[in-house]
Amino acid sequence: MCGIVGYVGPKATVDVLIGGLRRLEYRGYDSAGIAVISAGHLEMRKKSGKLVNLEAEIAAHPLPESHIGIGHTRWATHGAPTDGNAHPHLGGPAHKLALIHNGIIENFAELKAELLAEGTRFASETDTEVAAHLIAREYEQTHDLFAAFSSVMNRLHGAFTILVVHQDQPDVVLAARRNAPLVIGLGTGENFLGSDVAAFVEHTKRAVSVGQDEIVVLRADSVELFGFDGTPVAYTEFEVDWDASAASKGGWPSFMAKEIADQPQAIADTLMGRVRPDGHVVLDDIKQISTQQINDIERIIIVACGTASYAGDVAKYAIEKWARIPVQVELSHEFRYRSPIVTPNTLVIAISQSGETMDTLMAVRYAQELGAKVFAICNTQGATLARESDAVIYTHAGPEVAVASTKALTAQITAGYMLALVLAEARGALDEAHLTALGQELLHLPKKVSEVLENISQASDLGTAHANAKSVLFLGRNVGFPVAMEGALKLKEIAYIHAEGFAAGELKHGPIALIEEGQPVIVMVPSPDDVDSLHPKVISNIQEIRARGAKVIAIAEEGDGTVGNYAEAVIYVPKTDAIMAAVLCVIPLQAFALALSTAKGLDVDQPRNLAKSVTVE
Ligand code: F6R
Repeated sequence: MCGIVGYVGPKATVDVLIGGLRRLEYRGYDSAGIAVISAGHLEMRKKSGKLVNLEAEIAAHPLPESHIGIGHTRWATHGAPTDGNAHPHLGGPAHKLALIHNGIIENFAELKAELLAEGTRFASETDTEVAAHLIAREYEQTHDLFAAFSSVMNRLHGAFTILVVHQDQPDVVLAARRNAPLVIGLGTGENFLGSDVAAFVEHTKRAVSVGQDEIVVLRADSVELFGFDGTPVAYTEFEVDWDASAASKGGWPSFMAKEIADQPQAIADTLMGRVRPDGHVVLDDIKQISTQQINDIERIIIVACGTASYAGDVAKYAIEKWARIPVQVELSHEFRYRSPIVTPNTLVIAISQSGETMDTLMAVRYAQELGAKVFAICNTQGATLARESDAVIYTHAGPEVAVASTKALTAQITAGYMLALVLAEARGALDEAHLTALGQELLHLPKKVSEVLENISQASDLGTAHANAKSVLFLGRNVGFPVAMEGALKLKEIAYIHAEGFAAGELKHGPIALIEEGQPVIVMVPSPDDVDSLHPKVISNIQEIRARGAKVIAIAEEGDGTVGNYAEAVIYVPKTDAIMAAVLCVIPLQAFALALSTAKGLDVDQPRNLAKSVTVE
C-alpha cells in the first residue's frame, strides 16, 4: 500500500524517483506523483492511474533538472483515486511545501476543522493534506522546518510515514515514521528514502531501518535521526541481500510466473546453513532462547493474515505432530481485538512476508503487552516485524513482487517445518532416527519442488481450460485443508471467481449442497501409505461429490494406483513426508490460478483492489 521514495544527490532526480516508484509498484496503487525542487522552486506532477500516466504527464510538461525530490504511489483510503487526491499535497497559500504520506491520519477531521476555521483552502478530500498545511503554517511563523515538522508529527494520531520538501530549504528531505514502513538508503554523496529497500536497491545496498516515532533529516552528505521529541537517535546500517535483478521479471511473462518458478531456490536458500547433512536443524536465529525456555512453552499462538496464515496452519500440523506443543492459529486482526489468553509461557509466532502488515504488527504488540515472547517468520530484512520481535527466522525467498504470494508461502512453510523440528529436538518429542529422517527429507524438498515444476504444464492447461468456470471448490484433509484454502484464495484474488476451500470431512455438514452437475472440485489426496488412513477417507469424499456431478481434479502422490479411477484428471507430485506434502501440493494450485487468470486476460501481478503490503488496519 502506498509507495514512498525520497532522494537527495547528484543524479537526475526525476529518473531516480520514477525508477524507485516502479520498483514499488507491486505494493498496489491507483495514482502517482512526484515533487522536486529546482532553482528554489517547487514543481509537482501527479496523475491518477498507473505510473505510465504520470510519465506521460511529465513528458507533456517536463520537470527541470533537480537534485532533491519525493515520489509517491497512492492506494486510496480517504478520497477517490483522482488526480487531485494523488500525492504530493502542497502546504500553505504559496505552495512552497510538498508532502507525501503512507497510512491514515486518524484525527484529520479535527485538524481540518481547525485549519478551515482559519480560512485554509483544501485542494483534496484526503486526510493527508491537513499535515501539509499544518507544517507550512508553523514554518511561516518560525522559519525552522525541523521544528515545524516535528511539532506537527507530535499532533498526528494513527499510522504515517510522511516525507516533506520545502522550497526555502532546498537541500533537505524530512521524514517521519509511526506505524508505517520507512527505510533509508545510504549512498556516497547521495541518500535515499523508501517504503522498502526495493525503492533504492539498484543504487545502494547499505540501508537503515527507521524506528517507530523517529524523524529523519536527509541531505546528500548526511543522515540524522531524531525521536519525535527532538532527541538524536543512533542508527545501525545493514547490508541488503537482495539483488536488484531479483526484483525484475527476467524474461517471464509475469512476476507471479517467475516467483512460482523461483520456489526451488527460495526453499533451498531458506534451508541453507540451517539443516546439517545428518538431518539436525540448527536455527541460530533463535539461539538466544534456551532449551529450558523451549521446554517451558505451554502453548503456541501463530498470528498471520491471508496466505501467511495458511503457512501458519501447516506449521500447526507440524509442531503438534512433531514437537507435541498445542498450537492455535489466529488471524492477526481477530487475535488483537478479542481477549486471548496469553501467559508468559505462551510463544507467539508471527508470520509475514512483508513484515509490515499492520494487522500482524498490532497483534504482536498486543501479545508483547500481555507478556508473550514473539518469534517472527519474515521475508524482509529490516522490516518492522523483524525489529520488534524477540527473534526472527528470515525466509530467504528474495523479493516477492506479484501481489499473490507464492514463493514466500512455500518458504514460510519451510521455516515452519524447521522450527517444528528444533522444538521437537529440544523437547525430546521425537526419537533421533525420526528427527533426522525428517531433517534430511527437508533437504530433498527443493529437488522435489523442481520435479513438480517440470510437469507444471498439466496444471496450467487445466487452469486455461477452466477459464469460463464460475466457481471452483477445493478440498483437503490434514495439511491438505490449508492447501485447499490457499488454492481458493489464489483464484479469488487473481481470477476474480468464486472459490472456497473446505476440510473434506466437513462436506457432509453443509458444503456438499453446493455440488451440482459440472462443478469443478480440486482435491488434495494424501499418500496411500499414510498411517492415519486419510487416503481411503478422501477417496470416499471424492465418490460422494462425483455422485452429485462434480468434476474432480486430484493432486496425488506419484505411484498412487487408485486415485485415477475416481478423478477426471490427476496431477501427481513426488512422494514425501505427509506433512511436507503441503509444499508440493500447493504449487499446481498456484499454476492453475495463474493460467486461469491469464486466460481471462487479467493482470495477474496487480489484481484489482489489492495491495501487496497492507500497512493499514
Ligand atoms: C495472498 C497474499 C496475502 C498476504 C497477506 C499477509 O496471496 O499475499 O493474503 O499473505 O496480506 O501479508 P504478509 O505476509 O506480508 O503479512
